[in-house]
Amino acid sequence: MVSAATRRSLLKARAMDLITSAAILPLLFGCVGVFGLFKLLQWLRMRAYVRDAVVVITGATSGLGRECARVFSAAGARLVLCGRNAEALEELSRELAASPAAQVQAHKPHTVIFDLTDPGATVRAAAQILKCFGHVDVLINNAGISYRGTIVDTSLDVDKRVMETNYFGPVALTKALLPSMIRRRQGHIVAISSVQGRIGIPFRSAYAASKHATQAFFDCLRAEVEQHDIEVTVISPGYIHTSLSLNAITANGSTYGVTDETTAQGRSPAEVARDVLAAVGKKKKDVLLAGLAPTSAVYLRTLAPGLFFSLMASRARKERKSKHC
Ligand SMILES: NC(=O)c1ccc[n+]([C@@H]2O[C@H](COP(=O)([O-])OP(=O)(O)OC[C@H]3O[C@@H](n4cnc5c(N)ncnc54)[C@H](OP(=O)(O)O)[C@@H]3O)[C@@H](O)[C@H]2O)c1
Repeated sequence: MVSAATRRSLLKARAMDLITSAAILPLLFGCVGVFGLFKLLQWLRMRAYVRDAVVVITGATSGLGRECARVFSAAGARLVLCGRNAEALEELSRELAASPAAQVQAHKPHTVIFDLTDPGATVRAAAQILKCFGHVDVLINNAGISYRGTIVDTSLDVDKRVMETNYFGPVALTKALLPSMIRRRQGHIVAISSVQGRIGIPFRSAYAASKHATQAFFDCLRAEVEQHDIEVTVISPGYIHTSLSLNAITANGSTYGVTDETTAQGRSPAEVARDVLAAVGKKKKDVLLAGLAPTSAVYLRTLAPGLFFSLMASRARKERKSKHC
């Protein structure tokens, strides 16, 4: 004889079986299918946005810029590679021209050589850039230098050099290319900033200041050019494994020449370049590409500034001790 309670639980189990087999599973598969389709459409739209687009990349000779060149070339973009080192740019240009994607689309990258710290050369370079394909669809302001030093020991010339490279150079290039984008009512301007454009950490003053200025300038630009249908994306990565720390300048302007552990343990530039492509393709406005600790620090700076300042002071004390300065 089966009790009423057992009968109830049997009925419940049977009902659950029915629901999972007849309703939940198809619903689950349906959701996965719709999500997959949505992602596919997003990917196709992103590809269509970049394919044949004229993409200008500064700092294409090294690190993130070089990887962006590879990723955007593989996505079918027409490239204008910018930098100071003509030989490195030519080598990259040859590599990209020989890649399967470039051979199918017959896109040979152009190269434009100039130093971002020279405003006259930057304006002349903008004219040269416009001549390459007649217009610019996407400008990626990627070139930059880093800095290591204490504020008290750093000469003002060093502060100026970092600002000229990371801030005034990209601003000059953007201003020189903007009128042509406005005339076409089309264009996308990208600024590669840094987590240090959101928070200031000790012994990086000039770099953090230049990236804070970058964030502010391009936030203002975004609001001003929305009426001309021009997109602005600011991307703030955390550490990337590139030559940035090696090429950083110190308090007296000499080259730092060390790959810091944080940089060595950073993300691969190829991976970050794919994130840059996705951010551009999705027309994102502001992207923080960082792990949990730096992301938390950014929020802490806004929500609990007192705590953030104590943590930075303690970091400065520790770093000073470890470097005996
Ligand atoms: N690596 C990181 O941890 C990290 C994290 C956050 C953000 N970022 C940002 O990512 C961007 C790319 O840096 P990266 O990490 O790829 O460093 P990188 O390997 O040192 O590359 C820097 C690039 O900038 C160019 N550049 C430097 N000064 C220039 C100038 N005066 N005129 C023209 N080009 C100049 C360099 O060209 P030359 O070959 O001529 O020197 C090089 O191509 C920078 O804006 C950097 O601030 C990097």
